Amino acid sequence: MEPVKVGLLGLGTVGGGTLTVLTRNANEIARRAGRGIEIAHAAARDYNPASIEGLEHVGRIGDDAFAVVDDPEIQIVVELIGGYSPARELVLKAIANGKHVVTANKALIARHGNEIFAAAQARGVMVGFEAAVAGGIPIIKALREGLAANHIEWIAGIINGTGNFILTEMRDKGRDFADVLAEAQALGYAEADPTFDVEGIDAAHKLTILGSLAFGIPLQFERCFTEGISKIGALDVTYAAELGYRIKHLGIARRSPGGIELRVHPTLIPERRLIANVDGVMNAVLVKGDAVGPTLYYGAGAGALPTASAVIADLVDVVRTLTTDPNNRVPHLAFQPDELVDTPVLRMDEIETAYYLRLSALDQPGVMARIASILGEEGISIEAIKQKEPGEGETHVPLVMLTHRVIEGRMNEAIARIEALESVQGAVMRIRMESLSG
Ligand code: HSE
Repeated sequence: MEPVKVGLLGLGTVGGGTLTVLTRNANEIARRAGRGIEIAHAAARDYNPASIEGLEHVGRIGDDAFAVVDDPEIQIVVELIGGYSPARELVLKAIANGKHVVTANKALIARHGNEIFAAAQARGVMVGFEAAVAGGIPIIKALREGLAANHIEWIAGIINGTGNFILTEMRDKGRDFADVLAEAQALGYAEADPTFDVEGIDAAHKLTILGSLAFGIPLQFERCFTEGISKIGALDVTYAAELGYRIKHLGIARRSPGGIELRVHPTLIPERRLIANVDGVMNAVLVKGDAVGPTLYYGAGAGALPTASAVIADLVDVVRTLTTDPNNRVPHLAFQPDELVDTPVLRMDEIETAYYLRLSALDQPGVMARIASILGEEGISIEAIKQKEPGEGETHVPLVMLTHRVIEGRMNEAIARIEALESVQGAVMRIRMESLSG
């Protein structure tokens, strides 16, 4: 049988990796897919031919991505350009032209996925996006297929490798934030705009997708709470460790009585949890299903070959529908399109979590009691308190507290009241805390 003809948009890190893996593993992939896969037409503006293995097998390379999506020979378009535009226009045009699409573009799916899936459904084509979340970890397949029997209760994931790499290097080697970020950029892990990594936007894109797959709700990126790691100081990393915790930048999606929580923020988690020990650029996603219990998925969340692994898995799925298994269509968002529900995504002040608080308080009788009484009046129960030694000649001391779970709105009130005390200097550092117990 003739190989399936694929159009490739982008020959950057992931595009190059995809060609490399398709070339190296061509026979094995064809045996799985039922047909060979040929990159018949590629488009790229900037690429380094010397660094790409398998480039000689590409039928035609140009610089016009729209020429690829309009090429009548092409059956599947692989979009690896990234960003919102022109990726959205290209993908919609490919769908309108009756082509299946595979993309690694989390920003595109998180923001425009509802529109894209509706168009694909109407045209009877598939859109694969396994590579959009956690790189090489097959988390979308796990949620959509492997865990289909479960009522998903919550998901907690380290889903940005760059952020995890930065936090790990700061903790282990005391390295400077900017220096670690530059290394992640050189290794090809960081986004084109690295604030997407550091401020949690990239993780929020991925969490939005996971939340929809878990709970059967439309994609709502704009409702995802996002806080980055740029305010985490070396002090917090040290104090968290003294209390038996690690700080991780987590994406959390949870079904709670009033609705669904979708939140990305630095989080203290007990150091004995497996996920607390996921270091460097690695990703991990912990999923709690009611039947299966907790399950943990670990692997490379970025990089050329791991991401290519996920892109090609989607390609194989699509090729199977063209050859051996034409009726096997798994719904894009795991639930049948007319079964998506409008369960609200909660505002951040409605969610419930525990907290680590660090503040600088005047070293004087009654100050600790005043702070504790504000917390008590707001219905906040203290789990642990640590007062550090004052520095030489210092009038203020660092005070660290862990609290039990409370609604965030109550904590906001308490923090505002504590910050208004004359005996408290500066802002209160607040890091949310989750036990992640199964
Ligand atoms: N910038 C992302 C990360 C790449 O660091 O995880 C993969 O989406």
